[in-house]
Amino acid sequence: MDEHEQACDQQPGLSRRTMVAGTGLLAVVAAAAACSNAQSPAPAPAPQAPPPAGPPAQAAAGQRLGSAGAIPVGGGTVFPDKKVVVTQPTPGSYQAFSAICTHEGCTVNKVVDGTIDCPCHGSKFAITNGAPVHGPATRPLSSRQVKVEGDSIVLA
Ligand code: FES
Repeated sequence: MDEHEQACDQQPGLSRRTMVAGTGLLAVVAAAAACSNAQSPAPAPAPQAPPPAGPPAQAAAGQRLGSAGAIPVGGGTVFPDKKVVVTQPTPGSYQAFSAICTHEGCTVNKVVDGTIDCPCHGSKFAITNGAPVHGPATRPLSSRQVKVEGDSIVLA
């Protein structure tokens, strides 16, 4: 038991006469105040800052994604590190979309049978325009702009 606890335990035993007559009156009052402070509830924790809002960071314009020749006709390629998916619905016609699923934000992971597929809950998006063709997602993938430079697909 430390000194503070001893002082608090002794306080109820102090007679009124002792408290009033002694020169230590101020000390007793101070001790009582200290005890009452010790018994007060702990302060509430400081509120935490909310998580940052807004869409996840996307690759910047001008970044090379890969070889245009590697994008299959009638299919596409996911660039997960750039959060972009590039499709080629018809020869020489490239489309690009955000690879972030509009359902709950997973990254789509493959392009199969004309759709861009999300592994989390099964949403599928059309390679032609990013529109949802199978839920639970109800909103299309965001469009991205790409261009062909030489044999490279580059974010515009
Ligand atoms: Fe893609 Fe749910 S996050 S289907």
